[in-house]
Amino acid sequence: MESDRSGTGAFHSVALDSGTPETRLPVRIGHISDIHFGRITDANIVDALVSDLEAGDLDLVIISGDLTQRAFPGQFRAASQFLDRISSRWLVVPGNHDVYPWWRIRLRLTDPLRRYKKWISEELNQQIDWPDLSVLGINSAHGMTIQGGRIDASERASMATFFSSVPDRTFKILVVHHHLTSLDALDDHDVAVNAAETLQSAADLDVDMILCGHLHISQIAHVENVRPGHSIVVCTAGTATSDRGRGSNKSRNFYNKIVVSNLDVEIEEREYDAAARRFVATSAHTFARQRRSGP
Ligand SMILES: [Fe+2]
Ligand SMILES: [Fe+2]
Repeated sequence: MESDRSGTGAFHSVALDSGTPETRLPVRIGHISDIHFGRITDANIVDALVSDLEAGDLDLVIISGDLTQRAFPGQFRAASQFLDRISSRWLVVPGNHDVYPWWRIRLRLTDPLRRYKKWISEELNQQIDWPDLSVLGINSAHGMTIQGGRIDASERASMATFFSSVPDRTFKILVVHHHLTSLDALDDHDVAVNAAETLQSAADLDVDMILCGHLHISQIAHVENVRPGHSIVVCTAGTATSDRGRGSNKSRNFYNKIVVSNLDVEIEEREYDAAARRFVATSAHTFARQRRSGP
């Protein structure tokens, strides 16, 4: 566990490149998103999620943003306490609900993620560099952000710097709150500003998988031939704990369990069963790993 608290008891920091050197494949990852503390109506669901994550023998938990509903201090406090209950290493990115709300316009424009940085992580582009797995989180939630978010050139530069420095054989994961591709499950929705350029950059850098959230719909997709011969698995996690599920996921809660092996990657969608007060597997997807086409 690389998170730490300051003397104030209110700050998590995750050191860069602080993976456990002996962590080898298979790697087990829990991908959760859109926890939205402040919009949790089922009193049992957070405990059920923590129990399921802990039972999963995970090496890593990835949280793809929207930890809070309105970025209120009490909501961040709850999110911070939630992270403290995760015993494995975790990596997190902010979402649009983690910036100051519009009625705090000055702070939203000048320091939109101040509370996120205080309670969750000062580092907005967290990264993990293990022998067989590399993960980079990028921030798509900005003060002037619109619904679909925005990927700036600086984030694409971070991607290039990070992913070009890891060995070819490494499984590469990009984490971003907003969407780079459209979801089949929703008719009409935004993708992030600069989504196409970012997706192309990811493909050029041999990124194997993108983890995102935001739209509160669980969907596993394979985006074929983003560049010739290279496809990317896109995992959109539903809302893990809030009552904000959309479309066919209305009033439903999901997260993904991902196992990366030498030959393939398995993704299991796990849904909350309110009557049983636990998460259960509802679907499984397996994708063969790609061979690198480079020299
Ligand atoms: Fe959300
Ligand atoms: Fe969002």
